Amino acid sequence: MDIQFVTAAADLPENSALAIIVFEGAVLSGAAAEADSLAGGVVGRALAQGRFTGAKGQVLDFVAPAGHSAARLVLVGAGKRDAFDAVGAEHAAASAYSAVKLSGLTGLRVAFADEATAQPERAALGVRLGAYRFDRYRTKEAADKKPSVVRAEFVCADVEAAQAAFTTLAALADGIAFARDLVSEPPNILYPVEFARRVKALETLGLEVEILGEAEMQKLGMGSLLGVGQGSARESQLAIMRWNGAADPAAQPIAFVGKGVCFDTGGISIKPAEGMEDMKWDMGGAAAVAGLMHALAGRKAKVNAVGVLGLVENMPDGDAQRPGDVVTSMSGQTIEIINTDAEGRLVLADALWYCQDRFKPKFMVDLATLTGAIIISLGNDYAGVFSNNDELADNLLAASKAEAEPLWRMPLPPAYDKQIDSMIADMKNTGGRAGGSITAALFLQRFVNDLPWAHMDIASTAWKKPSSVPTLPEGATGYGVRLLNRMVADRYES
Ligand code: BES
Ligand code: MN
Ligand code: ZN
Repeated sequence: MDIQFVTAAADLPENSALAIIVFEGAVLSGAAAEADSLAGGVVGRALAQGRFTGAKGQVLDFVAPAGHSAARLVLVGAGKRDAFDAVGAEHAAASAYSAVKLSGLTGLRVAFADEATAQPERAALGVRLGAYRFDRYRTKEAADKKPSVVRAEFVCADVEAAQAAFTTLAALADGIAFARDLVSEPPNILYPVEFARRVKALETLGLEVEILGEAEMQKLGMGSLLGVGQGSARESQLAIMRWNGAADPAAQPIAFVGKGVCFDTGGISIKPAEGMEDMKWDMGGAAAVAGLMHALAGRKAKVNAVGVLGLVENMPDGDAQRPGDVVTSMSGQTIEIINTDAEGRLVLADALWYCQDRFKPKFMVDLATLTGAIIISLGNDYAGVFSNNDELADNLLAASKAEAEPLWRMPLPPAYDKQIDSMIADMKNTGGRAGGSITAALFLQRFVNDLPWAHMDIASTAWKKPSSVPTLPEGATGYGVRLLNRMVADRYES
């Protein structure tokens, strides 16, 4: 998508639509008023004539009157003017794009109701996120089913200022698209070594990337992670990404850890066939961490950050791990495997331990599509966050609100911890049906010592079935990239 910032709402290039963002009952000023009057006062007529009120989410799309430079006009309701914010601007612009994307037109220009509420750079981010699609493997799609809009323009008062503000957001959009691509890729293409390769290629952005293979992880004693990949023909990998953007290159880093199960069959405790294909996105946590590191590097964030990705494939096989096995993790703690489908926590146990042991970070946040139980608890919009540290949890929740990536804090009750005690080892890898997301988090907590830590269970949000959020097309969401990028920007940059 070609993104431009312009000052005029009139004189559109050929084959373009003009979208006007309209508040509930409000009047237009500036460029939007001019555009409206050129179109014969359509906004006033739309408000008077039918059910278009300017309420949030409403879209009215029609052919422009003769003599107008636009081919089509789109009125987008943005709700109450006082409640309009950055996310509202993204959604309004993404809705306008969605209305015209298959129209055959090639351009879209977006004008705000008035200058005071204009957020052109956020509108541009909205269009970039809403226009995302993964079509790499479609060879026969009819031309009229493909989006035609390739250029989006945003009306603003100051082109240079909007451009500068958008540069930062474009880095975020690039990181989100990188994460979405990883999650969308089929599991025969994106296996651990290929994931590691794609992350390694990010060195061109200035990231440092190290990849450990099975032999190196064996030396480190990562029996927990390695046990999961044991049944797979694909080699397990640990990817370590570093962005050193702080003024002091030796400053203590912040750290992010991701579950990267490139495919989760369940292993010997095999999953039912129905819906198993969804388990290609069981690397959504690792993808979000990689997308975050992409965004931090892309906008040259003034922070030292580490990303650790545990990349494995969970397969049934003659060599696969069995229920009943006992493995020894890098921490020295032993784990009795009860269910080989509770593999994410086994991967994270070693990745978290390695991360805190090697980098001694200020804090660690892990992201993982860890439990089906979080979907039962919170539904499909909210991710769950578990933390041993109120300040870190509050920072994540504040960032979640600001970026509209819904997040809900869950408890870590010490009394539940005994659910994962084992008869023959230090712990077992499942704690029964009751509080399944909680006992999974309590398991992870045994591998973080006293470091401030938060675990985000994103099994509920990594993938959207038919979506009602215009910036989240159906499929991979890239959930977590925005929220974490925001938390870093607001709290941890020097
Ligand atoms: N990858 C799954 C969790 C998951 C489920 C992610 C649905 C996305 C959508 C995880 O590895 C898993 O299988 N968890 C089990 C744990 C159980 C065996 C204790 C689960 O949630 O059923
Ligand atoms: Mn599993
Ligand atoms: Zn899994």
